[in-house]
Amino acid sequence: MKVIHNVSDKQIYLRELRITSNKTIGFIPTMGALHDGHISLVEQSVKNNDITVVSVFVNPRQFNDKSDFENYPVNHQRDLDLLDKAGCNLVFLPSADDIYKNFVGFNMDFNGLDKIYEGEFRPGHFQGVVDIVYRLFEIVNPHKAYFGQKDFQQLAIIKLMTKLANFDIEIVSCPIVREKSGLAMSSRNLRLSQEQFKNAANIYKLLIVIANKLKVGDDTDKHSKYFIDEIEKISDMKAEYCVFCNPESLVSVKKINKNSEIIMCVAVWCGKIRLIDNIILVF
Ligand code: PAJ
Repeated sequence: MKVIHNVSDKQIYLRELRITSNKTIGFIPTMGALHDGHISLVEQSVKNNDITVVSVFVNPRQFNDKSDFENYPVNHQRDLDLLDKAGCNLVFLPSADDIYKNFVGFNMDFNGLDKIYEGEFRPGHFQGVVDIVYRLFEIVNPHKAYFGQKDFQQLAIIKLMTKLANFDIEIVSCPIVREKSGLAMSSRNLRLSQEQFKNAANIYKLLIVIANKLKVGDDTDKHSKYFIDEIEKISDMKAEYCVFCNPESLVSVKKINKNSEIIMCVAVWCGKIRLIDNIILVF
């Protein structure tokens, strides 16, 4: 496995692989502190491409909360070992100065998609995500890029950005990998105390309870309220939102219709740690 820190080295190396050697390239952008969720994306790429490239970069532009950025877990050696084991061929570990050098920014009209749900509570977050993913797509120029369904809104925005920017890249959406307890794996889980980690499993448990109760004709507001109230009962936990929407357009759904697909998305604070999760429901 090759490790590259420098943007120009990487561009030259990948151009050669793609053009001269005619290899297919799969790409997984990450912020490191890797867990089995990230590794499932890497494994899928290894299966489907000649070369798998992973970037590890804690992107300062996408953090609206300074302390979240400062406390974001970093462990490069552990990440490199896991990536090597998973069959990754190339790791890109850039510095912020290098990656954003000469980058003028990328402004697009996301038709409000970046302002709702996560965007409402994390102002500027999605512009920061779009900046880095756009820049990485320019540098890596992969055939396919892999993203987790866990960050449902990020996935929808990246799909739209790829289309609007005319990148010839297939965006592959991958299922959520969970702990045994059902808690969605996240690098932020490392910052939970033992008790918080145990309590946080209730997020997925409640999603399942509601999924089993929901039926055609239901008003979704009543189920959102139930989720928020039940989370409130757990020590040190508070729900920020619980929304039901269309998985592609993200348009909010107030009433469950027959033959519809809906994604139920939640954000919950466990003490000072903010976690998100979702579940797709078909009626
Ligand atoms: P990060 O949180 O490191 O996640 C990298 C990728 O792993 C994302 O596509 C995310 O959706 C996916 N992922 C995280 N947890 C997962 C889980 N439990 N199951 C399946 N996939 C999971 O998302 C980011 O980084 C950044 O915003 C990034 C796209 C790298 C831009 O900086």
